[in-house]
Amino acid sequence: MKTILIIGIGAGDPEYITMQAVNALNRVDGFFILDKGPAKEKLTDLRHEICQRYISAGRAYRFIEAHCPERVRGGVDYSASVADLNRDKQNTFERLIDEALADGETGAFLAWGDPALYDSTIRILRAILAEGRCHFEFEVIPGITSVQALAARHKVPLNRIGRSVEITTGRRLAAGQVSDADSLVVMLDAEDAYQQVANRDRYIYWGAYLGTADEILIAGPLKEVADDIQRTRQAARQANGWIMDTYLLRDPD
Ligand SMILES: C[S@@+](CC[C@H](N)C(=O)[O-])C[C@H]1O[C@@H](n2cnc3c(N)ncnc32)[C@H](O)[C@@H]1O
Repeated sequence: MKTILIIGIGAGDPEYITMQAVNALNRVDGFFILDKGPAKEKLTDLRHEICQRYISAGRAYRFIEAHCPERVRGGVDYSASVADLNRDKQNTFERLIDEALADGETGAFLAWGDPALYDSTIRILRAILAEGRCHFEFEVIPGITSVQALAARHKVPLNRIGRSVEITTGRRLAAGQVSDADSLVVMLDAEDAYQQVANRDRYIYWGAYLGTADEILIAGPLKEVADDIQRTRQAARQANGWIMDTYLLRDPD
């Protein structure tokens, strides 16, 4: 039987790795590395650095590299394009597990942040098993999410006392699906969705490239800092070729 580990590697800082993740890294024969193009090279580099840093000297392992399928953007239904992407990823993952891993070996996917939060690896492995052609056992090792990194870097709790926190996407916020939770964490925002609610009396804690050398933090009343965030975001995206940012919107204390 093959074993697949989905290891959460934390959202940027190699020191976000847990002891459980270090132990898991040291069980792996083959790491599946999915190439997402030159713009995202830093994300691949971090995965290599983590292996180099935490796997004991003398332990043999290999990288199994493949091109990561991409979502078709623009002019297509979002849910349908995500479903297509996940089907393509499923085919790629199944092929890799089938062809590049021998019986009795352990393979691993290094999931950015935590594999349970806006990451499709668990869903895809479950779908492969459900199809019944490829057999393996799998384990999930949790990691530090970008949400936890954001709260830590701004030194704020996520929730107000006894209240709830909602995690959503920029796409939903931009579509007007504004929650009444008094703490709202927004991820995957491609469209400056905070501007949609900038007229509300809210505080924002914004963080980009959290835990990395490029990290940027801005906090303040949303009305006052929204334009600054938008300008900073645009400049950072231009400089790096891509951006990953997360923010917490909260009623003032
Ligand atoms: C596909 S989701 C992956 C989330 C990841 N599994 C986690 O646990 O944080 C990608 C989104 O996570 C957020 N993100 C991930 N890493 C980040 C970082 N280092 N700084 C800021 N936001 C980050 C951004 O909102 C980005 O659009």
